[in-house]
Amino acid sequence: MPKILAFAGSGRKKSYNFSIAKCAAKGANQDGIEVTVIDMSEFDMPIFNEDLEAAHGLPENAKKFKQLLMSHDGFIIANPEYNSGYSGLLKNAIDWASRKEEGEKPLQAFKGKYAAIIATSSGALGGIRGLVPLRMLLGNIGMHVLPNQLAVGGIGKLVDEEQNVVDEKTKTNLYAIGHTLAEALLQAAK
Ligand code: FNR
Repeated sequence: MPKILAFAGSGRKKSYNFSIAKCAAKGANQDGIEVTVIDMSEFDMPIFNEDLEAAHGLPENAKKFKQLLMSHDGFIIANPEYNSGYSGLLKNAIDWASRKEEGEKPLQAFKGKYAAIIATSSGALGGIRGLVPLRMLLGNIGMHVLPNQLAVGGIGKLVDEEQNVVDEKTKTNLYAIGHTLAEALLQAAK
């Protein structure tokens, strides 16, 4: 059964990107698809450094994150836009997960897999500019990035006190992204 992993490039307690990742994951949830959401605050890892890697291999949380990527076929990635790019947390986690360990193929966690990319911020553009470099990065490590993407602006007004997305139009749009990813995986599995 195709498996989807949803996560945000933020470890912030009240991360809006985590809110939209969870919402899009609901849209992906359908018969024949398994969906898992992870909170990146539980995968704290050091900044990648080849000396660190040479001395100790992958840190435990980087290994755990990579194993999760390896065991899933598609990802919903919600990217916080930092200075028009992806967040350091997201890039760092991808850098660790891109490292080949014994018995693995190069970029095994990513190559040939599917990704749906989304973003949100309180600004009007919702982080759309960060999705451009993220699309390029994921493509360069062998992923099929869906043409559909979504940047949700003004997020502060679209969530409740628990940071759940409550605005109906936003929910519909996020569900559609999740659904499209699920359909792409079902199609690819045929
Ligand atoms: C930001 N933020 C931001 N927002 C935006 O729309 N365009 C931008 O270029 C930036 N740049 C930026 C840089 C840095 C260093 C920070 C800390 C923040 C705002 C940011 O996207 C917003 O706070 C998001 O809500 C962060 O994501 P989470 O943690 O809520 O998921």
